[in-house]
Amino acid sequence: MTVTTKFVPAGPLRGDYTPPADKSISHRAALIGAMCDEPVAVRNYLDSEDTRSTLDAVMTLGAGVEEEGGDCFVIRGVGLHAPLEATEGLIGVGNAGTLMRLLPGWLAGQPGGVWTLDGDSSIRRRPVDRVAEPLRMMGATVDARDGRFPPFTVRGAELTGIDYELPVASAQVKSCVLIAGMMAAGSTSVVEPSVSRDHTERLLRRARVALERDGLRITVSQVDELELDEIVVPGDPSSAAFIVAATILVGGSRVVVKDVGLNWTRTGFLRIAERMGAVIVGDLEQPGSQTDAEPAGELDVASGSLEATVVEADEVPLAIDELTLVALLGAHAEGETVVRGAEELRLKESDRIAGVVDGLRGLGADIEATPDGFVVRGDGSPLRGGTIEANGDHRMAMLGAVAGLASTQGVEVVGMEAAAVSYPGFEQDLRTLV
Ligand code: S3P
Repeated sequence: MTVTTKFVPAGPLRGDYTPPADKSISHRAALIGAMCDEPVAVRNYLDSEDTRSTLDAVMTLGAGVEEEGGDCFVIRGVGLHAPLEATEGLIGVGNAGTLMRLLPGWLAGQPGGVWTLDGDSSIRRRPVDRVAEPLRMMGATVDARDGRFPPFTVRGAELTGIDYELPVASAQVKSCVLIAGMMAAGSTSVVEPSVSRDHTERLLRRARVALERDGLRITVSQVDELELDEIVVPGDPSSAAFIVAATILVGGSRVVVKDVGLNWTRTGFLRIAERMGAVIVGDLEQPGSQTDAEPAGELDVASGSLEATVVEADEVPLAIDELTLVALLGAHAEGETVVRGAEELRLKESDRIAGVVDGLRGLGADIEATPDGFVVRGDGSPLRGGTIEANGDHRMAMLGAVAGLASTQGVEVVGMEAAAVSYPGFEQDLRTLV
């Protein structure tokens, strides 16, 4: 059912706010937990449609998932090299691109196993050739619809390590190859064109996997077993970014964001917003840090006026899920904001370049698409408002809501229900702060 919700300018956002748990880390906690021999407690696991798909997937593969009250789960894994259950199985990934791209890395290393992965209509237009190619090089067989789309089948094999240069900076593809690399003979290296989120590397190192980073090259060696006791998932900086953007844009706002993940590979949006003039005080992790822990802390955000900026390709992976918010900030800033090297946005839950350009233009923005991003011009005044389509994309739905609060006449979001994919409590959190 399509839900249409109108978000009207309702005055400043004020108060303390705790974002929902991190989606990326929750997916990895369930998957890597399932690869362990001993039970792993996951605290603050995200309760959302996407992350439920991952729990269902690991249960299909034979792992136990026990709820220990609220948001804590104990994952009873089957071990890295387990003879996985459902050795001719169908795995539904729903709308979860991260599940769809990470899980094949594990399945590829299970000789004799055959699994078909499929999901919703949005997932069926998202390419999997990017993971199929390295997994085939390692020895697995992957057959996809039209050579590159779900549904696709993974046949496990004895894998051999490879040296792989990623054609795009993608944490999902990097993670898939590293996971397969743990089961491959010898060592496996992945070279990324620029740094992308590193949650998989941190978690694997914590699980005592021999994993080294040297510049943009990450090398993993074959391992027998993973050892992890507990994973505490911090708040999601990508979900918090919607509240941060609303706080920056709505005059008189001031919000303290609590327990949010501050891993430097996820805070690119905060650095871009600061460069545009936003006032954000917090202990962001220093770029380049290589600790194994996931840092979390507080951000104190206040509204203020903004100036245009230019976002170049090497910053894109560090703010990939927040670039539509950069467009919204750009529409309210003085001058011309440009985002380059972000063609990946066309392959997200929806084509986010087309979606943000058509969507914000419909609200009165002076914005145009480029092949690898967009250009948006503002004079410092707010957008008028109007109607925006979420196109089944959770982040587009939440973008529309923030645009509505910051507009002069309000924004009607068509397809607001999509927010539940990553952030079921989004509207409630907004209402509490306004
Ligand atoms: C994710 C990585 C990013 C991001 C997605 C989650 C992850 O995708 O857009 O929402 O959890 O690894 P890519 O790695 O494909 O850019």
